[in-house]
Amino acid sequence: MAENHKEKVLFVCLGNICRSPLAEVVVRGVAAQRGLNRYHFESAGTGDWHVGGPADPRSAAKAKEKGLDLSRHRAQQVTARNCQQWDWMIAMDSDNRANLLRLGVPESRILMMRQFEVETGHAPDVPDPYYGGPDGFEDAYLMLVANAEKLLNHLESFK
Ligand code: 4NP
Repeated sequence: MAENHKEKVLFVCLGNICRSPLAEVVVRGVAAQRGLNRYHFESAGTGDWHVGGPADPRSAAKAKEKGLDLSRHRAQQVTARNCQQWDWMIAMDSDNRANLLRLGVPESRILMMRQFEVETGHAPDVPDPYYGGPDGFEDAYLMLVANAEKLLNHLESFK
């Protein structure tokens, strides 16, 4: 499918160096396994501290351990100027979601990474592993893997 006809999906966290880059490669991998080629996946942070820089080495190592590649990742920021180009924005936590709403993203385009884990009520967060130990990165990876299929099923239901 031509790149400009694809649905644009942006995974969003705070720094775009830990969680959302990992989400991007996990979900892209599952989509590829399912033969879904109508999506264009990227990731971004609501903060600007790491723009242009690589993924956090702990996230890059976790990706590599799982057979995924974050070596070419460069962090980018989602802003009021560039946020309207995305069909879907997938927030890692409720702060990320609130930040997107503040930028002017319509609520209807925002999903939570873990929202399909629960039947009703608030979706759990993918907790920020930045200040914690290495277990946080394995935990985040497992949450992303557990939700990738469900998220894609939801996107596919709009076809
Ligand atoms: P992320 O983690 O949002 O999962 O990329 C963070 C990375 C950097 C910072 C915070 C969270 N920071 O404050 O620099």
